[in-house]
Amino acid sequence: MQTIRMLLCGVGNVGRHLITIIAAKDALLRERYGLDLRIVGAVDSTGAAIDPAGLDLQRVLDAKRAGIGVVALAGGLPGQDGAALAATLDYDLLLEATPVNLRHGDPGLSIVRAALGRGIDSVLANKAPLALAFAELARLGSLDARRGDGPLLRFSACVGGALPTINLGMRDLAGATIERVEAVVNGTTQGILRAMESGVPYDAALAQMQRAGLAETDPTLDVDGWDAANKLVIIANAVLRQPTTLADIAIEGIRAITPEQLRAARARGECIVLLGLAERTDQRYRLSVAPTTLGGDHPLARMGADEMGVVYTSDISGRQCATSREHDPQPTAAAMLRDIIEIAQQPRHRADHQRIDR
Ligand SMILES: NC(=O)c1ccc[n+]([C@@H]2O[C@H](COP(=O)([O-])OP(=O)(O)OC[C@H]3O[C@@H](n4cnc5c(N)ncnc54)[C@H](OP(=O)(O)O)[C@@H]3O)[C@@H](O)[C@H]2O)c1
Repeated sequence: MQTIRMLLCGVGNVGRHLITIIAAKDALLRERYGLDLRIVGAVDSTGAAIDPAGLDLQRVLDAKRAGIGVVALAGGLPGQDGAALAATLDYDLLLEATPVNLRHGDPGLSIVRAALGRGIDSVLANKAPLALAFAELARLGSLDARRGDGPLLRFSACVGGALPTINLGMRDLAGATIERVEAVVNGTTQGILRAMESGVPYDAALAQMQRAGLAETDPTLDVDGWDAANKLVIIANAVLRQPTTLADIAIEGIRAITPEQLRAARARGECIVLLGLAERTDQRYRLSVAPTTLGGDHPLARMGADEMGVVYTSDISGRQCATSREHDPQPTAAAMLRDIIEIAQQPRHRADHQRIDR
């Protein structure tokens, strides 16, 4: 049995779902993968709680449900800074799920830097560190197989929750040259556009997405296209291997789209989506996020309000499409779990932990 001691930064919608999944899947994780996953530290906006033997997950959930910070738990450390804890705690793997901060990336960026800088494998749900500092983080951690003793960096939850955007592009199109990526990877705008199309006002549609925990903490990130652009930055860097920042992307959100435009497109058999697009021109990819009218036969035009999708067109693998339907942040947490399992199956972890636990 491998024991993996994890530090969870961010115990909000995603973090709580991840805790719930880890608790519910304990037997399956042990039987199928030989994994004993323990959260030895949890950080929220009030501070941290730590327990080297593993926090009582039900108590963490109860505290958060009651609106109490993790500092109220046994092992509570009021005011404890996440990055400082990531730099000092004894743990094997970082789970990062704090809010997106596009100005300076923190707290997430400092937390990830601290973990990777110590050689600790890291799994991110928070896109901001990658959107702002992809090149630096990819030097600190490996996106592919482990380099020597270096840490792994995984972020499959960052681009559409459980939608396998990154895994499909990085793993399943190995050897192909990708000519075009089309991605509807912002669930909030997809939900809003489809709701407006059927007569629901913009404000009511946004409020519904917020109640479901699917909108960003700051919803302007969604409706003005920044969230989709962040995800395109990650796709461009990780999958297309083109060094990219937000400044390289032409970004237009959905505020100017009217119900009349949406209904008129439908009447023509078309569909308006917020599309992230990468088109290969010569040796570079041209990148944009904008409301885009798709023909009715396009795979992304057939998606419902709760769906996201990606289409890759490549030279040797044809056209590959994936869509996902997600009603809440649970699939995002599941994507973090798949990254944990993938990391756990890499040689260094297996060897280290088998040695420790026997
Ligand atoms: N929600 C989704 O469906 C989804 C999907 C894909 C990716 N993501 C990404 O996942 C991340 C988390 O999303 P979420 O919906 O779980 O957000 P959330 O509900 O707002 O939770 C954020 C968590 O971070 C904690 N936090 C805030 N400031 C902090 C600080 N300075 N230091 C340490 N912890 C801090 C919050 O503490 P309190 O609990 O004390 O407030 C909360 O526990 C975001 O980056 C988001 O973009 C979310």
